[in-house]
Amino acid sequence: AQRQELGSIHGIPLYSYFVEKWAQVDAFQARPDDLLISTYPKSGTTWISEIVDMIYNDGDEEKCKRDAIFNRVPFMEMSCPGLISGTEQLATLPSARIVKTHLPVQLLPVSFWEQDCKMIYVARNAKDVAVSYYHFYLMAKMHPDPGTWNEFLQTFMAGEVAYGSWYDHVKGWWEKKKDYRILFLFYEDMKEDPKRETEKVIKFLGKELKKEVVDKILHHTSFQEMKKNPTTNYEMMPTWAMDHSVSPFMRKGMSGDWKNFFTVAQNEIFDAHYEEQMKGSTFRCQM
Ligand code: A3P
Repeated sequence: AQRQELGSIHGIPLYSYFVEKWAQVDAFQARPDDLLISTYPKSGTTWISEIVDMIYNDGDEEKCKRDAIFNRVPFMEMSCPGLISGTEQLATLPSARIVKTHLPVQLLPVSFWEQDCKMIYVARNAKDVAVSYYHFYLMAKMHPDPGTWNEFLQTFMAGEVAYGSWYDHVKGWWEKKKDYRILFLFYEDMKEDPKRETEKVIKFLGKELKKEVVDKILHHTSFQEMKKNPTTNYEMMPTWAMDHSVSPFMRKGMSGDWKNFFTVAQNEIFDAHYEEQMKGSTFRCQM
C-alpha cells in the first residue's frame, strides 16, 4: 500500500479515506446502552477494549477469542474503500454495544451526548504516546512517512498527526467529564495496579464479578497474553497494512519508554511546550 498524506475533517487531520463516508459518522445514532471507549491513539485502546469485552462476557475468554477485537469493539469512524465502515458494522450489532473512537470531543456524533451514554476515556502521558505513535506510523502504512524520530516529534507537538493535538484531545475530554458519565482512566495507573483499575471499570459498568472471574480477566488482558493472542495483537491484519516486522503493534507495553528515545534537549523543549499547551487545565498525568 501507498503511504498517504492525511486529510482533514472539520479542521482535524485524519486519514483521507475516512472522508468519503463522514456523513454517516455525523449522523450516527447512539443507543442509550452503548458504551463508548474513547482515547487518543496509542493510549491503551486495545487494552481497555479487551478488558471491557471480557467484563461484558463474564470472563469467558473463549467468547472473546471467537472474533478479532475490531469486530467485537468496532471502530466507529473507520471507513476504507471496499470495506464495511465502522458505523455500518455497528448498525448490525445487537445491544449492548461497545463502541471505539479516537475522536476529539467536538467531532463526536451528538447522539452520544443526547443519549447520555456511559463513556470510558483512557489517557496516556504525551511522551510515551509520541514514542508509541512514531512506531505505529512506521509499521502501519495508512500513515504518512513519519521521517526521523526528531521530525516526528515536531509533527506530534504541532498536532499535525492523525486525530490532531494530543493536548487538545485530553483537555477536551477532561472538561466533558464534569457533565457526562465518563470514567477517566490513565494508562500509567492501569500499569501500576491493573486490578484496582479493572475493578473501577467493573463498578462503573454496574457489574459484580466473582474474584475468580476478575483474576481471569486480569490474566487474559496482561500485555504478555494480549501480545500472543491473535484476536488482539493485530497480526491478523495484512502485511501491506501493518508490518509487524518493522515494529509489532504490541510493542513494549510499558510506562516511561520515552526515556529511551528523548534526548535531553528534546525533553527540555517538550516540557516547555507542554506547559504552554496545558496552561489553565487541571489535567495531570504521570510521566
Ligand atoms: P507501546 O507502543 O508503547 O508498546 P492502542 O491500542 O491505543 O493503539 O495503544 C497501543 C499501545 O498500548 C502500545 O504501546 C501497546 O503495546 C500497548 N498495550 C496494548 N495492550 C497492552 C496491555 N495489555 N498492557 C500494557 N500495554 C498494552
